[in-house]
Amino acid sequence: MMERTLLEVKNLQTHFSTYRGTLRAVDGVSLTVRRGETLALVGESGCGKSVTGLSIMRLVRRPGRIIQGEISFDKEDLLKKPRAEMRQIRGGRIAMVFQDPLSTLNPAFTVQNQISESLKIHGVASGREAKERSIQLLEAMGIPAARERLRNYPHELSGGMRQRVMIAIAASCEPELLIADEPTTALDVTLQAQIMDLLAQIKKERGLAIILITHDLGIVSQFSDRAAVMYAGHIVEQGAVESLLEEPLHPYTRGLLQCVPRLGRPDLPITPIEGSVPDMAALPTGCRFAPRCPHVMEHCWQSMPLTYEPAPGRSVRCFLYGEAGDSVRGVDTT
Ligand SMILES: Nc1ncnc2c1ncn2[C@@H]1O[C@H](COP(=O)(O)OP(=O)(O)OP(=O)(O)O)[C@@H](O)[C@H]1O
Ligand code: SF4
Ligand SMILES: [Mg+2]
Repeated sequence: MMERTLLEVKNLQTHFSTYRGTLRAVDGVSLTVRRGETLALVGESGCGKSVTGLSIMRLVRRPGRIIQGEISFDKEDLLKKPRAEMRQIRGGRIAMVFQDPLSTLNPAFTVQNQISESLKIHGVASGREAKERSIQLLEAMGIPAARERLRNYPHELSGGMRQRVMIAIAASCEPELLIADEPTTALDVTLQAQIMDLLAQIKKERGLAIILITHDLGIVSQFSDRAAVMYAGHIVEQGAVESLLEEPLHPYTRGLLQCVPRLGRPDLPITPIEGSVPDMAALPTGCRFAPRCPHVMEHCWQSMPLTYEPAPGRSVRCFLYGEAGDSVRGVDTT
């Protein structure tokens, strides 16, 4: 059954003006998130994953700017919303969890202050009710002695506890979409698993849709329904997780998979992708992966591949899929 589309990002461009010129961090990104599903956004460091998340929240700061595109959330373009309305949506219908909770939690306020503030701003609860609700939220996040924790300041909590508090704040207003940017990277493996299970549970109970930004392909396979692979400001491949991981189409996706041990196949070698992500302020003219691609062809250096749909629900931005005759549909996303 097809779930309904919740978020549709079309041709999003977010650039940074730097002394070295324009840095095209997000360069024509299109993606879709359906209600209740988890879309993983994967790619190496610096590919534009966080800037994509921040753009959806309209939290990009100078020298960054959303140049163009459409961010349609429940059929309304967020880029056209007045600031005040956007503030209500942010932390309300769309929430975000960041990699480092210490940088997002306010060090000067207790856990209670911060959760209550969120509940109050979004008109969910205030006063005594907010306190009771905060306790319930912390308990739901598996935080022991929740009532006492409310009096703590962020620095008094462990890393895992802080991340749970962040998720509690994010979940407090019952968002429809949660953007989780590397929510477990700073944590040890056991805590990672606990936090991911917690997110999976919230997703199931509340029908929450999640954009899960991660480097970890293990987390992708375990916790997401679909995945979008990002490279140098572009989405280069998108599809259902099982098919994308079992049969990766884009040479970059294949490269990423070869960097990690494959489940049940200890015989396969682990090979890192040679080279590095291009300088985003001086991008190659043709395909951005050309300098690292084992399949590079002459025309890859000159022109940018379009996004093709070689199978239903699969899309890939690579010339290898654009020459199979007219059964292949090219969609220009730039
Ligand atoms: N405030 C900023 N000023 C200038 N450039 C920026 C700024 N924020 C991000 N960028 C650039 O935008 C590009 C994309 O960055 P982004 O943080 O989205 O990468 P990422 O995919 O999230 O990487 P990571 O996995 O390391 O978090 C990078 O080249 C980065 O240097
Ligand atoms: S378009 Fe060419 S260089 Fe780019 S990924 Fe495909 S084959 Fe490789
Ligand atoms: Mg990031």
